[in-house]
Amino acid sequence: MNPTDKTSFLDTAPAPTLAFGIGLRRPHFDDLLNPWPGVDFLEIISENFMNFGGRPREVVKAAKERFPLILHGVSLSIGGLDPLKEDYLEKLKALADLVDPPWFSDHLSYSSHWGVEYHDLLPLPFSEEAVEHVVARIQQVKKVVNRPFLLENPSYYIEMPGKEMSEAEFLTEVVERADCGLLLDINNVFVNATNHGYDPYEFLGQVPANRIRQYHMAGHDDSRSFLVDSHGSHIHPEVFKLYKHALTEVAKVWTLLEWDNAIPSLEVLLKENQLVRKAASEALGDSFIVEVAS
Ligand SMILES: [Fe+2]
Repeated sequence: MNPTDKTSFLDTAPAPTLAFGIGLRRPHFDDLLNPWPGVDFLEIISENFMNFGGRPREVVKAAKERFPLILHGVSLSIGGLDPLKEDYLEKLKALADLVDPPWFSDHLSYSSHWGVEYHDLLPLPFSEEAVEHVVARIQQVKKVVNRPFLLENPSYYIEMPGKEMSEAEFLTEVVERADCGLLLDINNVFVNATNHGYDPYEFLGQVPANRIRQYHMAGHDDSRSFLVDSHGSHIHPEVFKLYKHALTEVAKVWTLLEWDNAIPSLEVLLKENQLVRKAASEALGDSFIVEVAS
């Protein structure tokens, strides 16, 4: 990257700031007219809105009137071997133009092959060849959508053959050489560290802090032999502990509560979001608590 290049991520992405948000999911569309105390922004799943007119499009417009929105994708398949789908990228760009988010994001993984959608986020080998492959595809995405792009560290349960570097080195190489940002999922760091036997605190010290603009917080399940990134339960105390460390030692950025399975009532989500705000308050010695009616 040319140091005088003013189109770089670090020059064009919004500066890091603190904010707390939750994912807008279908069961809560009707709640959009109600108060959402403690919610500074909403994250929407891009694929839920990019293919539809009608109600989803009306919902996204209504949400945009009340909250800053960010786009999070699940099927870009940035690491896949199939060519990136041009119609997908064009629809993503159209949605981004409608929503005008500060950034959009997807996962450092692949989710389709030979045209078959797996509906799962599969890991890449931590290799130089994979870095080069993903970096070239990120350039293609950035060129079409033309907005700051964040890549998320996914959870993974098997290590692909061909490993030449650590997960943190792989993530760092990709985001720095692609000149994009990092969406650090704190729960994924904890789940991966536990399942693959590394220190999550060391991991946080190894990724490029200056490129982080967002955290994800979520619940996981313990299958007894390994942890499962389920997004269907309350945030684990150890993940809160890691989050506090990230806030004080790594970056102070937007935090998104992800709850995608067994989605609870808005009231439960707001209370969980309040716990995230409380953890940030304890970590940073400031008060981010907002009253949530019980
Ligand atoms: Fe996540």
